[in-house]
Amino acid sequence: MRITRRSFLRTSGLVAACGAGLGLAGRYGGALAEAPMDLTARRTSAVLDGSSLTEGVMTWNEGPLPPVIRVRQGAPFSARLVNALDEPTTIHWHGLRIPNAMDGVPFLTQPYVYEGDSFDYAFTPPDAGTFWYHPHCNTLTQLGHGLAGLFIVENPDDPVFDDEIALNIRDWRLDGKGRFIAQFKPRDAARSGTFGTVRTTNWTPEPIYDAPAGGLVRVRAAITDVTRICRFELEGADAKVIAIDGYPVPDPFAFDEITLGPGQRLDLVVRMPDEEGAIARLINERTTSPYAIAQFRAVGSSLNRDLREVTALPDNPVAEPDLDDATVLPLELSATAEEAPAKGSICGSLGYNFWAINKVPWSGDSADPHEPLYELKQGRSYVLDMVNRTPHLHPIHLHGLAFKPIRSSDGPVAPRYTDTYLINPDERVQLALKADNPGDWVFHCHIIEHQKTGMTGFFRVV
Ligand code: C2O
Ligand code: CU
Repeated sequence: MRITRRSFLRTSGLVAACGAGLGLAGRYGGALAEAPMDLTARRTSAVLDGSSLTEGVMTWNEGPLPPVIRVRQGAPFSARLVNALDEPTTIHWHGLRIPNAMDGVPFLTQPYVYEGDSFDYAFTPPDAGTFWYHPHCNTLTQLGHGLAGLFIVENPDDPVFDDEIALNIRDWRLDGKGRFIAQFKPRDAARSGTFGTVRTTNWTPEPIYDAPAGGLVRVRAAITDVTRICRFELEGADAKVIAIDGYPVPDPFAFDEITLGPGQRLDLVVRMPDEEGAIARLINERTTSPYAIAQFRAVGSSLNRDLREVTALPDNPVAEPDLDDATVLPLELSATAEEAPAKGSICGSLGYNFWAINKVPWSGDSADPHEPLYELKQGRSYVLDMVNRTPHLHPIHLHGLAFKPIRSSDGPVAPRYTDTYLINPDERVQLALKADNPGDWVFHCHIIEHQKTGMTGFFRVV
């Protein structure tokens, strides 16, 4: 049986009691955004480690957790960013294929939004799914200090589940008294990145959420951390994967484990345990240093749902690349031989060049952008032929366009659209795309220290 909004409203008291759509009162998830909305970037304080107060946390609006923005696919969205920080900022809408002028990358797509200034963003999200938003300016600090929020785009034809829980997963670099410590160590930036000391989801360590016993719960998980690659597993319940990086999985499959990098998203449908009080745990790094990303506690008497009810989400309107007529673009990720510190800029580099794309290290966001990696012709198809010549994994992210992996030296790949590919050491992968969105689109590692120490470039679509 296909889950339709109607069948679930008819059978699920919980959804009906919460009113229209997916708005779940009092829960991290939020109601549809009022347009236009204000997003005021500011500092606040918050308890992040469970005990001490951390000063200097950054958020938008009241916080400390940035709002979950929830909009409708194909409906205009607008937001005014007001900068009440003491440094320039912007907002990038991660994963959304929107006009270049709205992409939030200083110099390439817009000027800095200085302290006291504002900037109006307006766009119509073409795709439904789980996305997120964050600054693209002094990104390691601003993201590291909390500027990361979920951006959920609903398709009105999405199935309605018995509950929905959004997870904003990230770590913090704090000392034992809850104070921020240096956001990175150069030695680690030149390796797999500098890890946080306190792990949270929705700004809480190992949070517990109540969900209907025996129900089907949509979990939208986004890794907004600047460094950590997560290996997700579920204990105490079964689940199906319905979307990755916002893009629906054509054939939802049973969830076993999945490894995703910073910036990536996972949409699961968890079939809650039947027994009241039973807990299912979404865990990370089970074999090394396990902890619960989130815990789901069954409440009420069982709704007796069946995971077999879960079918594919409606597809997103991504243009198919024409593989018979695609131009191959070689891309090489490497550690750079260049020792000289990169030129500094307010929004730019960390003062080191450790990485390069096609031998050129660039930190992004600087006033003197390098030449594009390649110029793409609008409407034409391309295959990014990317090789990783480093001993580290890199979640490589492209703005403004969706691509799909078609071949990898590491074995079979799922040909699913995405905005990020987590490339293994020594892997070579081919990513196909149609260049249907004009503008300058940044292409970078989403381990922000890598991005900011050279692993950044951009494509120009004209
Ligand atoms: Cu999350 Cu350049 O982006
Ligand atoms: Cu990287």
